[in-house]
Amino acid sequence: MKLVSTVQELQSEIQHLAQGRTVGFVPTMGALHQGHISLVKQAVSENPVVVVSIFVNPTQFNDPADLERYPRTLENDMKLLEPTGCSIVFAPNAKEVYPEPDKRKFNFGKLEEVMEGKHRPGHFNGVAQVVSRLFDMVKPTKSYFGLKDFQQLAIVKNMVKQLQLPVEIVPCAIIREESGLAMSSRNELLTEEQRKNAAVISETLFKAKELKGQKSVQEITDWVTETINKNPFLDVEYFEIVDDEQLQPVKNWDEKSTKVGCVAVFCGKIRLIDNIVF
Ligand code: PAJ
Repeated sequence: MKLVSTVQELQSEIQHLAQGRTVGFVPTMGALHQGHISLVKQAVSENPVVVVSIFVNPTQFNDPADLERYPRTLENDMKLLEPTGCSIVFAPNAKEVYPEPDKRKFNFGKLEEVMEGKHRPGHFNGVAQVVSRLFDMVKPTKSYFGLKDFQQLAIVKNMVKQLQLPVEIVPCAIIREESGLAMSSRNELLTEEQRKNAAVISETLFKAKELKGQKSVQEITDWVTETINKNPFLDVEYFEIVDDEQLQPVKNWDEKSTKVGCVAVFCGKIRLIDNIVF
């Protein structure tokens, strides 16, 4: 496994290893956990060459304090990646990714008007900027994204379509801690007590799925919000039940689409997201 930090090194390494074979790519912001590692393992099982990028992308943080406190743990990340069979770790600095400021404005229409798009203005524009640049550098055959960031996955797919990029986007299942809490780099910022209580988020989502047959969309929405808010450590920013394609709020269970319940919750200053397919 090779660690590189410049685009030039990255591309010569890829060329040397791939020799025209497929390249799998897993973009990350580091502070890796088993959620990330599951993506890397899937990429390794499907491609002879796998690139993992580690870059805390400043353009996708709408809150400077969030960017400041985002965990950076390169040494430990390398230890976790070593046994996966990943070929190249690309850990550039900001100048390497953005030699000039990126002024592009993407238009994701309705997709970015809801949930994360609504509550984190500019966030998905920053995600699209960095992912499109990374795709341009790595030129992957397939790129792997977690269903934990459900809306991000929809945005990336849409961006690939808009820019007509020759890359296949592969969705990967949510990996959870034993408590059910969706794994996240931000979990490291929680106190032990907060982390215990944060398990109420996924517990509530799982119960909501069981209650689906007995309650309307509105009743489930209210029930989830109230149940999570009852926990003194947790404060719901939004819970919405949306269709899995346009991510628009649904009113009834009987509409044809698959429904996904998406939640954002503050645990102290730390913002956590999770979702469940109904
Ligand atoms: P990051 O939060 O580091 O996540 C990198 C990838 O890991 C994303 O595709 C995310 O959905 C996936 N992931 C995170 N936690 C997961 C879990 N518990 N189970 C399964 N997959 C999980 O998402 C980003 O970084 C950035 O926005 C990025 C795409 C790298 C652009 O900067």
